[in-house]
Amino acid sequence: MGIDHRAFVSGGRDGVERFMRISVVGCGYLGAVHAAAMADLGHEVVGVDVDESKIAALREARAPFYEPGFEELLARTLATGRLRFSTDVAEAAGAQLHFVCVGTPQKRGENGADLRYVEAAAESLLGVVSPGDLVVGKSTVPVGTAARLAELVGGKVPGALLAWNPEFLREGFAVHDTLHPDRLVYGLPDGADGATAERMLDEVYAPIVARGTPKVITDYATAEMVKTAANSFLATKISFINAMAELCEATGADVCQLADAIGYDDRIGRKFLNAGLGFGGGCLPKDIRAFMARAGELGADQALTFLREVDNINMRRRIRMVELAREVCGGSLLGKRIAVLGAAFKPDSDDIRDSPALNVAAQLQLQGAVVRVTDPAAVENSRREWPHLDYAATPEEAAERADAVLLLTEWKQYRELDPVAFGKVVAGKRVLDGRNALDRETWTAAGWTYRALGRRAG
Ligand code: UGA
Repeated sequence: MGIDHRAFVSGGRDGVERFMRISVVGCGYLGAVHAAAMADLGHEVVGVDVDESKIAALREARAPFYEPGFEELLARTLATGRLRFSTDVAEAAGAQLHFVCVGTPQKRGENGADLRYVEAAAESLLGVVSPGDLVVGKSTVPVGTAARLAELVGGKVPGALLAWNPEFLREGFAVHDTLHPDRLVYGLPDGADGATAERMLDEVYAPIVARGTPKVITDYATAEMVKTAANSFLATKISFINAMAELCEATGADVCQLADAIGYDDRIGRKFLNAGLGFGGGCLPKDIRAFMARAGELGADQALTFLREVDNINMRRRIRMVELAREVCGGSLLGKRIAVLGAAFKPDSDDIRDSPALNVAAQLQLQGAVVRVTDPAAVENSRREWPHLDYAATPEEAAERADAVLLLTEWKQYRELDPVAFGKVVAGKRVLDGRNALDRETWTAAGWTYRALGRRAG
């Protein structure tokens, strides 16, 4: 006997009036969380991915990546019977909405986005989409992609529609951001088709819409650009404060106080003004580059040349960190033992894509330092991608007899280290705070030489 979803849903916690059948193609951070979250809202969902090990893990409620709260969500939704995972896209047949959530990495040797996974996902869906279905793009794509895919879908399956619905989730907060987004953006076709697509999306997101979440109804190009513009703005904000940090280093001013002071102006805001080692990860760096590449193709490259500088400022922070390490080690890194705290591109993640921390660790090692890296979640991934680095399970193990300790990813457990006890394991009490995350006074009071980006020596 099948499960009576409707009965379950109508008495359900989130007030979905009508459950929908959904497929989610691509089960990475975006897709896996989206699939489980949509099942949590009461829908019947199948998540599809070509990676067998990923699907096997998801079926057993094991997250293939570190994401707080995700395994609980998975376990909860799998238990309802509303969520399934498969490697076979044919399982998506019968769904009314098909979300495309595959990755769009940077092309090798080029700035542009590699669209091969999006195209493969769209192609594979053509075999299962029926008239009246809605294909919903969530991947971050160069402007113009949605219009092209809409033609492809509509051309092969008359009556099937396409919408672009970008996603703004942050790694580390993916579950919360998916279930409680701060806005919904629908890029829709014109006319009656647009109204149909809007209605279908509203049904999927019913509890979120009912909560009064701001909704922006727009065309494909704007929806695609909202995403890249948002990430470019965030990257610019970080590089702005890091450019100020460079000036602070030249003048003796303090970038943290500067950020606090300008952040009180709510036109500026304090968020994303944390100076330090800069941005990394699978989104911000590649998105600003893809945006520049696309602007070039459109003959509008001048509009985004400032993003090149944003990228440059960001990369210079990594070099500066290595220089600072050399400085505190007395002018040479040769044979110096250095502990690196943090490998993930940010805390609460095991994602090491374009990780500033690993980039610095590798440069230090290339320049002759003996580097030991630790991270609460990302050691396994790091070891696979950077096998030549040495890894430790704990900060104490990493810092044993170290000449300098570098905090490069601000995990809570590192921010809360006791500088007195920690001082007993190192050879030299020198700490470099790459994320301006430690309390300078407590560390200096415990006898440490404290150095940070954009701040005077402590
Ligand atoms: C980013 C955006 O914040 C999300 O809105 C977007 O949906 C996502 O990309 C995406 O395109 O999928 P995420 O990559 O998870 O999310 O990470 P962020 O929290 O934006 O942090 C990016 C980097 O900036 C990290 O390396 C972080 O350490 C750094 N950062 C962040 C700073 O250096 N300073 C800050 O003040 C804030």
